[in-house]
Amino acid sequence: MIFGRIKPLDAILATAEKKSLHRSLGAFQLTMLGIGAVIGTGIFVLTAEAAQKAGPGMMLSFVIAGFVCAVAALCYAEMAAMVPVSGSAYTYSYAVMGELVAWMVGWALILEYAIAAGAVSVGWSGYFIGWLNTSFNISIPLALVRGPFDGGMINLPAMLIAAVVTALLVKGTKESATVNAVLVAIKILALSMFVILTIPVIRTGQFTPFAPLGFAGISGAAASIFFAYVGFDAVSTAAEETKNPQRNMPIGLIGSLAICTIFYMLVAAGVIGTVGAQPVFGPGHEVLSPGTPALSQACAAIQENAVVCSKEALAWTLKQVGWPFVGWLVGAAAIIALPSVILMMMFGQTRVFFVMSRDGLLPELFSKIHPTFRTPYVITLLTGLFVTLFAAFFPVGLLADVSNSGTLFAFAAVSIAVMVLRRTDPGRARPFRTPAIMLIAPISIIGCVYLFFSLSGPTIMLFFGWAVVGLIVYFTYSYRRSHVGRGIVEVHEADADVPPQPVPPLPDAPTPGGQQA
Ligand code: ALA
Repeated sequence: MIFGRIKPLDAILATAEKKSLHRSLGAFQLTMLGIGAVIGTGIFVLTAEAAQKAGPGMMLSFVIAGFVCAVAALCYAEMAAMVPVSGSAYTYSYAVMGELVAWMVGWALILEYAIAAGAVSVGWSGYFIGWLNTSFNISIPLALVRGPFDGGMINLPAMLIAAVVTALLVKGTKESATVNAVLVAIKILALSMFVILTIPVIRTGQFTPFAPLGFAGISGAAASIFFAYVGFDAVSTAAEETKNPQRNMPIGLIGSLAICTIFYMLVAAGVIGTVGAQPVFGPGHEVLSPGTPALSQACAAIQENAVVCSKEALAWTLKQVGWPFVGWLVGAAAIIALPSVILMMMFGQTRVFFVMSRDGLLPELFSKIHPTFRTPYVITLLTGLFVTLFAAFFPVGLLADVSNSGTLFAFAAVSIAVMVLRRTDPGRARPFRTPAIMLIAPISIIGCVYLFFSLSGPTIMLFFGWAVVGLIVYFTYSYRRSHVGRGIVEVHEADADVPPQPVPPLPDAPTPGGQQA
């Protein structure tokens, strides 16, 4: 009975106890950690895609997506604080809903992390190209900087940044609290400059028509812009390193999401009110989807003269309103800060793969550790290869949407798991309890389902296709090799973010950046 294959929570917790990290993070550090992981391609690039889908109504899309994230975050935090081990949603599901659900969640997390890393790489590329052009007047042919769906052939800069981040991860780069704080400051400064320069020159007329493509457009944009909030799970997974998690966890999660939401709405208002955010239509006034050759053609016809055509929406807007130098600075900020988001995403991916491999569901080779760098290099290289390929050929919007489909599935699964565990194991110690769980968890589940089905048809089909492939892999490979299935219950010496080492582990605990590869 596959649904009976549950990994005992106590075995998972024993692993966590062996790790026993020092509780050092307070509410402020957690909030910084959240902002560092969250602000990225979503706001810097996807604002243009949201405008194409919703017009000025994208402001509402930001609120909807932020709200769903906030309720999901509260559920996530209870699980993360209770089961503070690597593998996040995958591990939680294994303990509560059994192996098959855990496998599907882990399989969906591949979409969340690896494809998101690809999306952020493509977003980075857009800013890099624009910045090169402004700084040195260098124009690389479009064929080499955009994928085939986007009017080009291959996106070389996106491949380059994905490859560089892969190399850093193989070497064992970890983002320190200081680096995170500097990057957060750069991002906040860039967005603040944008807001300060655009909000005063807003023209209210630009906000009408508010919803040119109706509420369906606003929902579709919310489902896409959800990407802008992804990454807050970095906060939940730091539960174990948090002082007084019952107080600090919700402050860190909701605080970082609230700050991001306020910034996102102000930035969106700045874009809409200055350069306008009406969608570009086809020659017959047909609706065009972002990241399609048809939109690329329509944009070429108007000399790319609309924010929805820009690959560097914020820098472009600033240039239009007469602040080219600040636009250049914002571009530089994106170029400096976005790679850390790619790093976080790829790190998350390797960590999930590592745990799945250690559970026997993926080949053991995946958890092989590099003799010198002591990092799971095989899986890092494999992940890097796929991220590089996604980045080379697909448009940012499609990658972000596909990533969102996996994330929404995982969030819904965690929200269910939290409710189930409250009933099946009410006495277990919960360092953080989601308030009003019987209200918050169902709202989170409904919110995730609503956003999932607001994604485009092809994205939803891709998700289900991916799920079918996952089921085939599970039943042909993983089912028989599963350690739990074979009756092997392990308590690992170290958690996945501290791979097995030939020498005793060093006494230093992972930094608040959460990265210890
Ligand atoms: N939220 C992250 C970003 O927008 C993934 O880049």
